[in-house]
Amino acid sequence: MGEIGSSNDEARRLAQLGYGEGTVVIASSQLKGKGRLGRRWISPPGGLYLSIILKPYSSPSKLPLITIFSLLSAVRTLRGLTKLDVGVKWPNDIVIADKKLGGILCEAAKNTVVVGIGINLNVNISLFPKALKKQVTSIKFELGLNVNRDKVLRIFLEEFDKLYRDFLGKKHDDIIKEWSGLCQTLGSRVKIETTRGEVHGIAESIGEKGELRVRCSDGKIKKVFSGDVVKVNTMENI
Ligand code: BTN
Repeated sequence: MGEIGSSNDEARRLAQLGYGEGTVVIASSQLKGKGRLGRRWISPPGGLYLSIILKPYSSPSKLPLITIFSLLSAVRTLRGLTKLDVGVKWPNDIVIADKKLGGILCEAAKNTVVVGIGINLNVNISLFPKALKKQVTSIKFELGLNVNRDKVLRIFLEEFDKLYRDFLGKKHDDIIKEWSGLCQTLGSRVKIETTRGEVHGIAESIGEKGELRVRCSDGKIKKVFSGDVVKVNTMENI
């Protein structure tokens, strides 16, 4: 598709019409791109914006794991093609150093999950609002050249297919292990804003449901299922 409101909304509409698992909606830009927690996802031309319909028939508690393997598919693809040091930040960010390169928005309804992936591929950073410019990056900005969007898309879908099979085959430990190795949040002192207040401590590991396990100052582990990591210092800085 060309320009669209939100590829997630379109995928959800198609799922309601009976389109099945594996249906992919790809947009060249989005007018109403959606981010996590009701935020806007700025989606100028040059980016990769796609949504995939899944029917995993697993419990809603596995939703964070779908985000995790989807992120992993994107990171494997981008690292392989560009050799850039692409990583992840819990819960759903694709990053280079501290800058956001992309994100995943999973939305579930009944037995359908729509996985939305946005990557700043061949995007000019100048197109972002001033307040965001310092926090975001793109592959074009990092490499100084454009990459072939169709190639990125093809390899991403191959990786996604492999990892979805691993997810269905319950290879969750393998997925979490690889993801953890790419995660810049782990091993850092964090402050996380959740709907139930702030959590402070050291981000220690990712649990079996995709939750962040934070070691608090009383020595106890707190499990965080959703929230924003608003402050991260590496251990060396403490
Ligand atoms: C986030 O980091 O907050 C998640 C961003 C997800 C953006 C993608 S772009 C394709 C799909 N369609 C949307 O409206 N959102 C997701």
